This record gives sequence, structure tokens and C-alpha cells, in this order.
Amino acid sequence: VSLKPFNTFGIAVKAKNFIAVSSVDKLKEVLQLKTYPQKFVLGGGSNMLLTQDIEALVIKIDLKGIDIILKENDFTYVKVAAGENWHQFVQWAIGKDLGGLENLSLIPGNVGTAPIQNIGAYGVELKDIFHSCEALDANTLEPVSFTREDCRFAYRDSFFKRNKGKYIITSVTFRLTSNNHNINISYGAIGAELQKQGIKNPNIRQISNAVINIRESKLPNPKELGNSGSFFKNPVVPTSVFETLKKTYPEIPHYTVSATEVKIPAGWLIEQCGYKGKRYGDAGIHKNQALVLVNYGNASGKELWDLALKIQQSVKEKFNILIEPEVNVY
Ligand code: EPU
Repeated sequence: VSLKPFNTFGIAVKAKNFIAVSSVDKLKEVLQLKTYPQKFVLGGGSNMLLTQDIEALVIKIDLKGIDIILKENDFTYVKVAAGENWHQFVQWAIGKDLGGLENLSLIPGNVGTAPIQNIGAYGVELKDIFHSCEALDANTLEPVSFTREDCRFAYRDSFFKRNKGKYIITSVTFRLTSNNHNINISYGAIGAELQKQGIKNPNIRQISNAVINIRESKLPNPKELGNSGSFFKNPVVPTSVFETLKKTYPEIPHYTVSATEVKIPAGWLIEQCGYKGKRYGDAGIHKNQALVLVNYGNASGKELWDLALKIQQSVKEKFNILIEPEVNVY
């Protein structure tokens, strides 16, 4: 089976054996198959770079279902199966006037993989609306529940990311606002977009639309141009390092993380190294967002990975900062 349709980078590696599962029982059954000692669990394929054919049994998580499980005055708890598409779920919630997800509109991928890297955009992270999740222990096949604290969420990080392959998330429960939505327009670009549209007191639908417009203007649509969103994480550096850089680059963009740490947009660092819009064969760097590597058609995972390493090295040489991939490389 070619995995090209199953990863947003559009890399044409092959899987020797592939199975899609649409129930937890089926998932358990497949995980027990002795014929295939190695298993490779696949969600939406939106945060991975495949550099080789896969020998393991590829298990595609197709669990479906969105259920309101509890309504309180202020909050509504919604349980979503891991195989639901993230953006479709966001739109479902907005349609029901449930708040908290609107800033996370149009993020590719599925609900079940969202907690692994604590997806985030425009001032909101998954952890802000996450209530709990259910997973299968990959070894014992027992169901395990995780609270928000158990998940140890941090910037593009979680317990699951640090314990790769040990648990398979089967559903996620969100705590959404039923009314009194927390409108978050802290991220400059949203305010600017709303202003452009003449909107003063945005509702969650308007925020979602603003985010969609911003993303569509900056980020390539994986259906048209293979990519995996931000390829690298934004590096967090000591304030002293930032202050030194600022002397040479007074315009350097940054976000304060704490009293001692500053986050610098990796896209800026990469652009300074001259890579924005560059193309090497079918592997390239997006013209509007240097943090996004793109596949113009037939790039191999290896070509993209070599380009990533070259970028990483250039940034290291120019700024003495190590930028680390946020996508999973196999
Ligand atoms: N910038 C440049 N050149 C570029 C790209 C960015 O100079 O080519 C500078 C701009 O000055 C801009 C700043 O970097 O002010 C920030 O850029 P942007 O708003 O596009 O956000 P980002 O820091 O590059 C992060 C996330 C995105 C998320 C946006 C919005 C990471 C690794 N990426 O990108 O997430 O959508 O913020 O919140 O944290 C993803 O993870 O796949 C992703 C797209």
C-alpha cells in the first residue's frame, strides 16, 4: 500500500501491511496479531515525515463519533473519537455555539493525535480546553484514562510525546464553554484581521473565520502542496542570549516565556539564513512561511530531511541556536 494519501507531506513510501480500524475492539484485536510483531499507529498523518518504507503493520485509527456527555450551566463536555478530523470537529462545536476551539481552526490532522504535541495556534493550546482522554496501553491492551495533569502538557509537548508508542489514544473529552465564551484575540494577527473586516466584538464564528483567513494566506493547503505545518519548534532561549542577538538584529521578533526565557520564531531565523521560498528539486521552503517545508510533488522523505538538516545547521552557524523538528521523522 502506498502511504502517499495518508500523510500530508504526500511522501510515497510503502507499507507492507495496512489495516484501518473503526472500533476499539478491532484495534485491540489487531494489536494482538502475532504475525506482525511491530505496529505503526497512524492518525491523520499531518505531523510526520516518512523517510523509508514501513515494515511494521500500519494501523490507521478510524474511530468515529462526537458525543455531548455532560451539560453544566457554563460548560459542555464533549467526547470525541480519535479518528475524527480536527477541523470538522471545530466546525461542529462552533455550529453548536460551544466555545474554546475557534482559535484552533483549520489545523490539519485528527482529534486523537492532537494531545500528543498539544497543538496550538493564535494564543490557544489544546490543553486550554482538554478535559481528559482515553487510551489503550499498547502492551497490556488495557484502557487507561488520563486527566489533564497526567498529560503534562507543555509547548508542543506532552507525556505521550515523551513516551512514544506506549499508549494509543482512542478518544478525547473537551470542556467547552456553553456561553460566556473566552474570546481570545491576544495574538496580533487576529486583531488585525478583525479590524480589516470592521468587527469590534467578535463571536466565536468570526474568530474562527479570521483564523481561517490568516492560515489560508500564510500556510499552504496540504491538499494542494504537501507539507506538515511548522517543521521546527520555535526555540526557547535564555533572555541573555536574546539580548545579545537584539544588539545585532534590533527587529528580531520574540515572545516572552518567563522572566528568564524568550521564544524566537524559527521562521524568522530560517528566513534570515536566506531559505524562504527556496526550492531544491521537489523539496522546498514555503514562500510565505519559512517554518514550513513543502513537497512540490515527488520529493522523497530523505530529500526533505536532508534539507531540514541543512537548515538546522545554517541556523546553528549563524545564530548558535539549535532548532529542533516538531514533526516526527521515521
Ligand atoms: N516570521 C518571519 N519569517 C517567516 C515566518 C515568520 O520573519 O518566514 C516571523 C514573523 O515576523 C512573525 C513571527 O515570525 O511575526 C511569527 O510568525 P507566525 O505568526 O506565522 O507564527 P510562528 O511562530 O511561525 C507558530 C506555530 C504555528 C501557529 C502560529 C500561530 C510553532 C512551531 N508554530 O508559528 O503552528 O499556527 O504560531 O499561532 O509554534 C504548526 O505547529 O504546524 C503551526 C503552523
